Amino acid sequence: MGGGPAGSLLAHLLQRAGVDCAIVELRSKDHVLGRVRAGVIEHGSAERLRAVGLGSRMDAEGSRHHGVNLAHAGDMLRIDFKGLTGRDVMIFGQTELQKDLYLALEDSGVPLIDEAADVAVEGIETDRPIVSYTREGERRSLVASIVVGCDGGHGVSGQLLPEAVKTTYERVYPFTWVGVLSETPPVRDELIYANHDRGFALCSMRNAALSRYYVQGDADATVDDWPDDRFWEELAARLPEEVRSDLVTGTSIEKIVTPLRSKVTEPMRHGSLFLAGDVAHLVPPTGAKGLNLAISDVSLLADAIIDRFTAGSTAGLDEYSDRALARVWRAVRFSWWMTMLMHRFPGVADDFDRRLQRAELDYLFSSVTAQRSLAENYVGLPLTPQGGGDGLI
Ligand code: FAD
Ligand code: DHB
Repeated sequence: MGGGPAGSLLAHLLQRAGVDCAIVELRSKDHVLGRVRAGVIEHGSAERLRAVGLGSRMDAEGSRHHGVNLAHAGDMLRIDFKGLTGRDVMIFGQTELQKDLYLALEDSGVPLIDEAADVAVEGIETDRPIVSYTREGERRSLVASIVVGCDGGHGVSGQLLPEAVKTTYERVYPFTWVGVLSETPPVRDELIYANHDRGFALCSMRNAALSRYYVQGDADATVDDWPDDRFWEELAARLPEEVRSDLVTGTSIEKIVTPLRSKVTEPMRHGSLFLAGDVAHLVPPTGAKGLNLAISDVSLLADAIIDRFTAGSTAGLDEYSDRALARVWRAVRFSWWMTMLMHRFPGVADDFDRRLQRAELDYLFSSVTAQRSLAENYVGLPLTPQGGGDGLI
């Protein structure tokens, strides 16, 4: 269920291994391909994409980033990923990855049933669950062995878990991100995350002629509250002076307002229903973990499903929820920490929390150990935290 990055990568991995699958997607293909979202691909995610034939355009058109910058109180600190961890990240838009995924699915003949309305699932406590949907006015069904809910943050598959087995953990942050895509050269070669008294700002990019910028907005902000002029003025004001003078502004070609929340639904499996990606966990975008978690979930799940259908072993399926959640919670922690570190919290003027935030930033700016911790999390923790071979236990 769901043909976003989680659903389409999972289908690609399964089909390559000879496990039959189909994707049922609520929206049209064009709609899915038109969504502008994440831009940072972790080191391990990029390696996994390369290993399954999805790396060539990412390597040709994306760019390798060896570090990011943090700005605070007029200073800039470069976190040197390469020097601190030996790893790097790729900048390659989710939109582009989604195109490659749909092309790969088309090549391998995976049915992508888009514009499927009223998607419903029955029998998840049996080994023959049924997915039904309406397309072109006709009700149709698929009889499956396994159903994977990859239907995103507004999805419904999480609601199929009985209340008695389900626990939801949630934190809502009191602000939004206003994001703009503009056909202007990026202000710097590497990302800048800025903590400013006026609020957070982020400078990112898609390529040498396409920039992606975000500023923190109020909790109830709408796109209409943020005409281009206001956006550029506010972004410029939140950047260090040396950066501000290089900022090239232009007409926005896309603008979004996105709320920030952390949310985890446990477990990620019930009977023959498995959850992967945003439907199971949302993270605030600070730290760029959402897309990467979708990739790591389905990497684990694909191996488990393939084992079940090729070797007859259910061990991987039985362990999936615990293994995926162990990684998910580390990313939830990191995204929460970066969110707390970089944003202006409304109502918090100069009291204890604000002082703590400053102390944390001062520590980060002065300690290589603190920088290494940020770098290690940003480039991405190993797929399996325990025994990952990186000194992590
Ligand atoms: P999705 O990409 O949401 O895909 C789910 C799919 O399921 C969709 O195509 C949807 O149409 C479909 N669907 C929904 N309901 C049903 C149903 N009932 N039946 C069938 N199909 C259904 N992450 C970052 O790291 N950085 C960012 O800057 C960033 N920005 C974001 C901005 C927005 C507005 C949003 C919503 C997310 C953003 N994310 C960002 C998160 C990142 O894009 C997601 O983590 C990633 O898309 C997760 O992939 P997914 O496949 O789990 O979910
Ligand atoms: C982008 C989005 C993020 O959430 C982030 O932390 C870094 C970059 C982006 O869209 O480029």
